Amino acid sequence: MFFKKKETVAMVDDRLRHIAFIMDGNGRWAKKRSMPREFGHVNGAKTFKKIIRYCGDKGVKIITVYAFSTENWKRPKNEVDAIMKLLSDYIDDAVASVDENNIQLHFLGDMSIFPENIKAKIENAEKVSADKELVLNIALNYGARAEIAHACEVLIKEGKTNVSEDDVTGALYTAHCQDPDLIVRTGGDLRLSNFLLWQAAYAEFYFTDTLWPDLDEREIDKIIDDFYTRKRRYGGI
Ligand code: FPP
Repeated sequence: MFFKKKETVAMVDDRLRHIAFIMDGNGRWAKKRSMPREFGHVNGAKTFKKIIRYCGDKGVKIITVYAFSTENWKRPKNEVDAIMKLLSDYIDDAVASVDENNIQLHFLGDMSIFPENIKAKIENAEKVSADKELVLNIALNYGARAEIAHACEVLIKEGKTNVSEDDVTGALYTAHCQDPDLIVRTGGDLRLSNFLLWQAAYAEFYFTDTLWPDLDEREIDKIIDDFYTRKRRYGGI
């Protein structure tokens, strides 16, 4: 006789409050299927939703994703448009179901580049989700060096003549949350690509060859298990 094993999700604890993802490999995923790159992004957006849900269910408190860098504008217009449409649709869905998904949305990056209607949509999404629990940071038109330079400008405008690390941390787009404990990059490249340079100071890193649309719950479990084998010493012994 077979008894169906009860599915239980092993929860994370306070050592793993914040996971950041570099969602790389959408284009190659599509190419492998002889499909246009946009098809990869559509499936990347599906994976994004699945991974957010799963990490939230596991008790992760903060999730950050690298959705669009300041360099990504160099891509063909139809690809940029496709990514922006997916983001815009996601914001609409997230706002419409804000009470069920319990997601507190934040956008990291220079939003001034976007047209007024998009800026208003972003502001509204942040406002209506502000009392929700799971913090989701979407890095959009984001570059970490630009973020640090922007933080310096903010501090200069405030009239600061002495600047501490805490001052810089508090002037970054991520001022509302703690640094990532773990940064995961899919797609096989071993680099940060101008993502969270300041915040990554003591993060653990996990690189996988898996292309973003293929990332699944099983691999998240593996990544989390691996994280718990790490000894974080923060410069101590
Ligand atoms: C990198 O893969 C991915 C991007 C630049 C875009 C990420 C966008 C999504 C996952 C979809 C929309 C997101 C949300 C939050 C709804 P790549 O295109 O550089 O892949 P490649 O290295 O294989 O070319």
